[in-house]
Amino acid sequence: MTAPQAADVVVVGGGLIGTAIAWQLRLTGRSVVVVTGERSAAASGVAAGMLAPVTETTFTEGALLALNQASISQYAGFVAQLEEASGLPAGLRRTPTLSVAGNSDDAAQLAALAAYLDRLGLDCERLTSRECRSYEPLLSPTIRSGLLVAGDWSCDNRLLWAALVEASRRAGVLEVPGFVHQVESEHGRVSGVVLADGTRWMTAAVVLANGAWAAQVGGTPPIPVRPVKGQILRLDPVRMPPPSLTIRAFTAGQEVYLVPRDSGREVVVGATVEQLGFDRRVTAGGVYELLRDARQVLPVTAEYVLSETSVGYRPGTPDNAPILGPCELDGLLLATGHYRNGVLLTPVTATAITHLVERGTLPEVASGFTLDRFASDRLAPDGSAQDGSAQDRLAPEQLAPSGSPDPPPAQASATRGTT
Ligand code: GLY
Repeated sequence: MTAPQAADVVVVGGGLIGTAIAWQLRLTGRSVVVVTGERSAAASGVAAGMLAPVTETTFTEGALLALNQASISQYAGFVAQLEEASGLPAGLRRTPTLSVAGNSDDAAQLAALAAYLDRLGLDCERLTSRECRSYEPLLSPTIRSGLLVAGDWSCDNRLLWAALVEASRRAGVLEVPGFVHQVESEHGRVSGVVLADGTRWMTAAVVLANGAWAAQVGGTPPIPVRPVKGQILRLDPVRMPPPSLTIRAFTAGQEVYLVPRDSGREVVVGATVEQLGFDRRVTAGGVYELLRDARQVLPVTAEYVLSETSVGYRPGTPDNAPILGPCELDGLLLATGHYRNGVLLTPVTATAITHLVERGTLPEVASGFTLDRFASDRLAPDGSAQDGSAQDRLAPEQLAPSGSPDPPPAQASATRGTT
């Protein structure tokens, strides 16, 4: 048996979040190891890369909105530093997002969102159908109304991830392929990790950043993260024109989004939201509905080539917000549960965990997202938080203990849009 090796920090998970944390921690002079997991299965490579704190917000997620806004305000600086460090483009696209409504019910839903954004003092511009098409001429003339949000951007998550991997390698982060099987501890303090192949790393600090797989590592407190399946498509316009803006749409009660890349050769269309655990299937129904709704909004998509279908697993939590920071096991730091916002929350998560390691506390903006918000004595009888933490309201079924089995397919629901 080989002797254990040692590092100041072991990061579990080599997706966007884990790699960004590893890179930032390495810049503080610490020795950092990333145990990558199966990178090809990570949500980081499947996501669409919307940076949409405003257009994706919902009425019950005020605390999350503040965190999302903090992260987008860091994005340009984070990407500039990353491109300099990696020598690679990181895919940030600072074009607005246009939310549109397909029928009168959809228009009412969009109007309610606009009124909510007004109450929060967030900038958005209400548009008529004609105005929507002057911004995006490819939109269907049937579009009823729209909402333009200049500060909601996108980032090509695959370019971002490649740049992060390169920057972290150049900085001296050590990548170890494989899976962490167990976090080891002595007297309530982290002492190391054991990998699935039996390799041991000694360390006093473990960052758990393995997304939807966070609940599967032994030796940690229960972590209420579950996989939320998303089917997503990539279309290649080939010789047809791509949209210039990111388009989100309510269409006949469904939500669909279309995210173009600068190359003009990719438009990402997403996504289903399915409570089916780690189900890998791309289904005919999922693909059909996404293509149908995309065409309803942007008829030219029917001429595009369907270049990729994929499935990813969002790390869902009971309140749809991430789990960040320390927990009852000293030295175990959590950076998981980013659900629909992993690409958006990458900068703020990396800076918050680095701040925590350096100074022993989370920055204010992240302090409401610790695991202990789910402790039963911090919930009001109706499931809402009593203390201003991230949890605005939990549905009773969301209070199931972590590790509860995924629902069997017959009971599972497939929906789209905000959950
Ligand atoms: N944030 C987009 C999605 O989760 O589908």
